[in-house]
Amino acid sequence: MNKIFVTRQLPNKKLINKLEEFFIVDVWEEEDPPSKSKLQERSKGCWGLLTMLTEKIDLDLISSNPSLKIIANMAVGYDNIDINAANKFSIQVTNTPDVLTRSTAELTIALIFVIAKRLQEGNAAIRNSEWGPWHPNWMIGKDLNNAKIGIIGPGKIGQEVAKIAKNLNMNVMYYGKSPKNGFPGEFVNLNKLLKNADFISVHLSLNEETKNFINMRHFTIMKKDAVLINTSRGKIINQIDLENAIKRKIIGGAALDVTDPEPLPATSELLKMQNVFISPHLGSATKKTRTDMAELAIKNLIEFNAGRIPPNAIDEEGV
Ligand code: DGY
Repeated sequence: MNKIFVTRQLPNKKLINKLEEFFIVDVWEEEDPPSKSKLQERSKGCWGLLTMLTEKIDLDLISSNPSLKIIANMAVGYDNIDINAANKFSIQVTNTPDVLTRSTAELTIALIFVIAKRLQEGNAAIRNSEWGPWHPNWMIGKDLNNAKIGIIGPGKIGQEVAKIAKNLNMNVMYYGKSPKNGFPGEFVNLNKLLKNADFISVHLSLNEETKNFINMRHFTIMKKDAVLINTSRGKIINQIDLENAIKRKIIGGAALDVTDPEPLPATSELLKMQNVFISPHLGSATKKTRTDMAELAIKNLIEFNAGRIPPNAIDEEGV
């Protein structure tokens, strides 16, 4: 049997049992991810890896592991894997799309609500004994009804966010490389989106082209009270520029489920800002979604082991 290293505990033991029907399975049992050297050590002699987005799979690891044939990432994003190196060494890479689309879209909408209704600020006021008698002008937030949302990246998650936003009676605009058939919103150029949207939600995958994709140049085009939402990857936004844009009141705030780095250090300026809400990368964090993701990663391994093309093969050229 081929050997697999699973870099974290999976949502339940049954999933490991399933893997053990097909492979010799080694599981990293600690809470924190394996260090670079531990990852190297435990991957030695493995035919496959079941990895998380926390594991950096680089040229070093790939080139020193001649037995490695497949990396099944338990995430839709695979920016933690050097795809060029994997291609060069003919290693199959797979991901787990679709199963997390709805959860991530729901989290995106939750972030919009938190920031629009100023829930973080209101809650902090209560905790700081600043909740006085009801006042007509206190903690005034925003309606989502008729507000404009701009979606950058009309992939599956962006499209699901658009669908929910439409049901909330928001006006949806989107920007991507090309218009998408059936996308519930108006395809616009990036400038028009930035200029007009009250909420700007980023749904891009991270690669060389999208690193720092949103930066000060874009913040200066946005409305003064616009809110930026990011549930994709932290590095897509230039975080220093974002801090400055909020500090200098160039934009109204941000709600981020992803940051650069993760975890975000407790000393980050962003955590001092009441109009910034940060959640700790929870887009796919529901029991069903995480189980589905693990099952899909396992399916990819099993199919590939049987000599078939895995259902979620990444066949991109790399950049
Ligand atoms: C992914 O799958 O890429 C997500 O970020 C994990 O929640």
